[in-house]
Amino acid sequence: MRESHGVTRQQPLTAARRRAEQLRDVIRQHDYRYYVVDRPTISDTAYDRLFEELARLEAAYPELITPDSPTQRVAGAPLPAFPAIEHLAPMLSLESVTDADDVRRFDERIHASVRGRTVRYVLEPKFDGLSLEVVYRDGVLLRASTRGDGERGEGVTENVKTIRSVPLRLRGNSVPRLLAVRGEAIMRLDDFRALNERLERDGQPPFANPRNAAAGSIRQLDPRITAQRRLDVFFYDILHMERGPRLADDMRLLQALPAWGLHASPNTRVCSSVDKVVQYHREMERRRDSLEYEIDGIVLKVNDLDLRARLQMTARHPRWALAFKFAPREQETTIEDIVVQVGRSGVLTPVAVLRPVQIGGVTVTRATLHNRDEIARKDLRVGDVVRVIRAGDVIPEIVEHVPARRAHRHRPYIMPARCPECHTSIVQERPFDHCPNGLACPAQLKRTIHHFGSRDALDIRGLGPETVDALVSEGLVRSVADLFTLTHDDLMQVERFADVSATNLLKAIDRARQTPLWRFLHALGIPSVGTRTARDLAEHFGTLDRIQSADEAELMAVPGIGPTVARDVAAFFRRAVNRRVIESCRRRGVRMSRTSVTRRGPLAGKTVVFTGGLESMTREDAEERARARGALTARSVSAETDLVVAGTDPGSKYAKACALGVRVIDEGQFQRLIGAHG
Ligand code: IVH
Repeated sequence: MRESHGVTRQQPLTAARRRAEQLRDVIRQHDYRYYVVDRPTISDTAYDRLFEELARLEAAYPELITPDSPTQRVAGAPLPAFPAIEHLAPMLSLESVTDADDVRRFDERIHASVRGRTVRYVLEPKFDGLSLEVVYRDGVLLRASTRGDGERGEGVTENVKTIRSVPLRLRGNSVPRLLAVRGEAIMRLDDFRALNERLERDGQPPFANPRNAAAGSIRQLDPRITAQRRLDVFFYDILHMERGPRLADDMRLLQALPAWGLHASPNTRVCSSVDKVVQYHREMERRRDSLEYEIDGIVLKVNDLDLRARLQMTARHPRWALAFKFAPREQETTIEDIVVQVGRSGVLTPVAVLRPVQIGGVTVTRATLHNRDEIARKDLRVGDVVRVIRAGDVIPEIVEHVPARRAHRHRPYIMPARCPECHTSIVQERPFDHCPNGLACPAQLKRTIHHFGSRDALDIRGLGPETVDALVSEGLVRSVADLFTLTHDDLMQVERFADVSATNLLKAIDRARQTPLWRFLHALGIPSVGTRTARDLAEHFGTLDRIQSADEAELMAVPGIGPTVARDVAAFFRRAVNRRVIESCRRRGVRMSRTSVTRRGPLAGKTVVFTGGLESMTREDAEERARARGALTARSVSAETDLVVAGTDPGSKYAKACALGVRVIDEGQFQRLIGAHG
């Protein structure tokens, strides 16, 4: 038995190699079932166990690590820029039409050139994402690039390697020597919504639609960020193949893709008449809203690959394929009014009230105008006829006004000088307007209370927006602290409550009295403090008192906290009203505990200490990443420590860890441990 940084080598190398190979195989099988065919056969926990065993084995026997091991989905260090990559074959674009008559003409053209032969078409959804080329050499992922100008694109290999549905190694035994496949990177709608919520919580601008989110995530110089964004790829074409199986038609090609472990569309079909094409288009358009991702049309491609070769290309498009797009989810309507909503933090958001209009089967009556600068940029006025777009379930957006339909009486919009809810003079902080009245403004109060009980805050079930509205309007709740003195009788006065719902809400409120400090901090709704910052603060300071009395310099000493957040936090706690509310919560039994445990992730609930210098990231960064995977990070080693990550020249902490028998790993092992769980 040998020791390698405290990790034991308990078996002969050959046995370890065998086990590692076995584990990789099994893990790849499960990845394939989960990400490609969508039929997982084991639980997440069982999967994690296998994964951890492999990671441990590789940590003890680094010589066994292979570049295509499932543990190697490591998000590498940031790139200075994307290298230019020439595609193995040009990535063409498609001619696109929206009219069935154009599809019929396309079909006639093809029939004219094949003289009497039957033509079959492969039909596929047209994914609304970012087109990629992914190259495999001897079955191992070699590189990935964006479409760029069609000839050369940007090398985004490191980023694409973090996408779980992209295999690092192909399956099966007819793997070509060289294979370039084309696919579309997309972000699913629920991941898109979650990402935008997170961005907004962290005070960053959200993405306008899932396509931009996917493209923005792939074109990220820091692969660690891509790794946090959940992306998926649908493969649909072979751009180039050397020494692979002979494929006679596209359908066979499309079957080859999943056989190699590449995720392809489950909605592909073959047909041999243009009527069937139109029917498929109609059917997919109907299903569009129930899919988990965005499609913007269908693609029809001649199935026979020889025939394709004969049909060749026009200047830019292949003659054998056509994009048949859905009608744009865009309509014209009129801005009937512009109203202003007051958000939790007091930000005023202008919203256009629209003459109701059907867009893609949904009645749209409102569209956000974001802020005064947006209104000015688009020059939107009450009375204007505007073009409104609705993408997926994304909030409707006004694209532009139709200048020809503007009348003289339409006056430029002027943002109110006072808060529409409490009439306090507003404060401008370009591009936003603010109501500075804080919790004394009823709109802010309602939103604050709702946020206070939301899932990532105190998680009080049953405290939805309508309930909050009723509680505030009835005068039962004037601050978040009032939640803790609500009685059954109080609730029974409110129309929406019955005996059971009142009891349940009171129970939920009572449970929330015991809370991890970070949840309470997040619940307070301090501007620019999202869950992550709340955790950092909680962990760094340990108690609310210490956070409350910290000045800006002390706050900025917390890794990851910059001047803006420090200023916002300090300003929040300086306000007497905020301090009073916190004090009341305490008097009413709220107790905050220092730590909390993230239940998921490879480091869930483990206390990790870093010592020595790290090569690929800063200490703060490493701690942050460990926390993001469920770890608690500490500065000193004790019997409570589960794991020590030792960099170069580790000092006394390393010695102490060894003395206490705490597991020690090096930086590479740490990277694999965390990168693997992206
Ligand atoms: S086939 C020769 N199939 O739509 C062109 N394209 O110009 C091969 N797209 O940028 C493309 N879904 O990235 C094909 N199922 C699908 C597709 C698809 C989306 C994209 C493609 C291209 C654009 C059309």
